[in-house]
Amino acid sequence: MRKVTVNTGTEYDILIERGLIKDVGAYVRAVTSASKITVITDTNVEKLYAEGVTSSLRNAGFDTSLFVFEAGEKSKNLGTISKMYDHMADFHMSRKDVVVALGGGVTGDMAGFAAATYMRGIDFVQIPTSLLAQVDSSVGGKTGVDIPQGKNLVGAFHQPILVLIDPDTLSTLPDRFVNDGMAEVIKYGCIKDRELFETLEDKNALCVIEDVIERCVSIKRDVVNRDEKEKGERMLLNFGHTLGHSLEKIYNFEGLSHGEAVAIGMVMITAASEKEGFTQPDTAERIKRLCEKYNLPTSDSADIGQIAAECASDKKTSAGSVSFVLLSEIGNSFVRKTPLSDVLSFIE
Ligand SMILES: NC(=O)c1ccc[n+]([C@@H]2O[C@H](COP(=O)([O-])OP(=O)(O)OC[C@H]3O[C@@H](n4cnc5c(N)ncnc54)[C@H](O)[C@@H]3O)[C@@H](O)[C@H]2O)c1
Repeated sequence: MRKVTVNTGTEYDILIERGLIKDVGAYVRAVTSASKITVITDTNVEKLYAEGVTSSLRNAGFDTSLFVFEAGEKSKNLGTISKMYDHMADFHMSRKDVVVALGGGVTGDMAGFAAATYMRGIDFVQIPTSLLAQVDSSVGGKTGVDIPQGKNLVGAFHQPILVLIDPDTLSTLPDRFVNDGMAEVIKYGCIKDRELFETLEDKNALCVIEDVIERCVSIKRDVVNRDEKEKGERMLLNFGHTLGHSLEKIYNFEGLSHGEAVAIGMVMITAASEKEGFTQPDTAERIKRLCEKYNLPTSDSADIGQIAAECASDKKTSAGSVSFVLLSEIGNSFVRKTPLSDVLSFIE
């Protein structure tokens, strides 16, 4: 069993072990005296893991109920959250009870937001089952939903009380979502961990997945411990995301997946930064080769002017500049503010 402890306002553990999903009841029981648990999951994950998880929780003495929503980003909205509140209230959940998020990042973000706001905040546990959720979204306490005006525009910081990661659940994850998660894994290597980057180059990440997950959540833990509310260092986690998010918007969140867009964004921004002399030569090419190894695209034909315009309207743009995360070399990153008027010439 691997354990990574997060130390934001409240301390919590991330436990990583193959097969752990069978025993979640005992692990959850060890951190709460709640009597009721609502398990929140989507239609795909329900078929695979909901029965096992709820029966393990019942065996640990919890009274459980299951809330299932239609899988996919389209469900990540206030309408689904409202149904969660109804479900939890009808189940007579009290302030001492617990929400369990069982699924990918969509489930974790929404279940976390419902827990953050139901009765002004109750505890929640993350059981991430997608690679993206295991290496990234289940840690750090960002929860929320999309509204028509933008992705993740409504949300709250609410830390889980426990994160339970079973890498075996990745065996049922469709390949495209595995690739998607790999973009975030590559991101961690780029911004903070040269050794991880080299491991991804030399080996097949899935053959050493426990190491990879532990490294990624440890990096995120360190960053979040120092900057929970994204006032400084946490911005580094957005490497590749500003351009990636612009591409996602251009394709109306349908053409490219998040990971695919981030992969293109990482290569594009590093090529631009290399050209300006901020990044060691050949870095963009190395990132490109690594993304290709994990079946991720590395370029796109979208109009560069449109990409620059989308960057300018990004929610993270402030005071007339865009904060781009750049690499000085693999494993070392920094934030550089670029005035809006210079964005196009910088990324061109
Ligand atoms: N909170 C954060 O810090 C943070 C960070 C990054 C991304 N996110 C959010 O995460 C979301 C994307 O997460 P995602 O890619 O996990 O999406 P997702 O939750 O939609 O999961 C992807 C797909 O995989 C399926 N799935 C999940 N686990 C499975 C398994 N083990 N076997 C079979 N199918 C499985 C899901 O049903 C879904 O169809 C976005 O909404 C993004 O905004 C949040």
